[in-house]
Amino acid sequence: MHANPVNGIDAERLYAEIDALYARLAAAPRDEFDCNRGMRFAMTMLNYAPEALENVPRASLARFVGRGNPHRIGTVLAGETVLDAGCGAGSDLIIAAHATGPAGRVIGVDICGPLLDCAWTSACIAGVDGWTTLLAADYTDLPLDSGSVDVVMLNGSLNIALDKRRVLAECFRVLKPGGRLYLAEAVINEDIGFRWRDDIRLWAHGVAGALNETELRALVSAAGFTRLQLTERFDCFNGSRIALSMPVAGAINLFARKPMTAS
Ligand SMILES: C[S@@+](CC[C@H](N)C(=O)[O-])C[C@H]1O[C@@H](n2cnc3c(N)ncnc32)[C@H](O)[C@@H]1O
Repeated sequence: MHANPVNGIDAERLYAEIDALYARLAAAPRDEFDCNRGMRFAMTMLNYAPEALENVPRASLARFVGRGNPHRIGTVLAGETVLDAGCGAGSDLIIAAHATGPAGRVIGVDICGPLLDCAWTSACIAGVDGWTTLLAADYTDLPLDSGSVDVVMLNGSLNIALDKRRVLAECFRVLKPGGRLYLAEAVINEDIGFRWRDDIRLWAHGVAGALNETELRALVSAAGFTRLQLTERFDCFNGSRIALSMPVAGAINLFARKPMTAS
């Protein structure tokens, strides 16, 4: 089992690649990009509700590059605190902010400054800035108190981490006992081997680091989460250039919970 492949990828080089890739997406969202992206993709391939997308500014949606749909994994209630780890331009965060309302709080964490800038402008346009916090931070070291969050969303960001265990451990730590993980992530059919695993461009896109469903579930369980439930599958790479580069299967929506008894 290859639950946490690293395969000699140099972390510094990977961060530089991530910086360049997502800064390019922020600057020119309509330019060629290897993964599917944007509002039409969200609606037609990931089943985002049109009425939810109506409340998200176009600038944010044009830079949306999620893999699945965390909003179909479970609810976000008024007054709750939601973290989007690897929030990009903030589309999921803004949808969640409309659900929490001003009695709640949404927090977006990302390492790409230009995407965070877009997320903030979009939150202001959407009128949810009063209860939105955006943090330029690494999800392997979340600047949040333990037990402070009701829902953690990850949409297409976990696979980019060289140490997925660390990211999931951080998500587990910041969740309250009983808190929910809404994980939407790309998966592969079988181990894809070193031919793709060591391709830094594909890693930054979040596909070379993809696991198969069994491996991903095992990793989430190993982090302490329980009540795992695969709720939906998506053909999110259909028609994209990524699909030509390597055999990535698609994506899944996965629910998990931090046990009530966990601290
Ligand atoms: C495939 S994009 C998905 C973005 C967003 N969730 C969406 O649905 O549009 C992956 C995101 O993860 C972010 N990311 C990558 N490594 C990260 C890290 N170490 N800490 C925080 N964010 C990271 C990238 O900057 C990028 O915005």
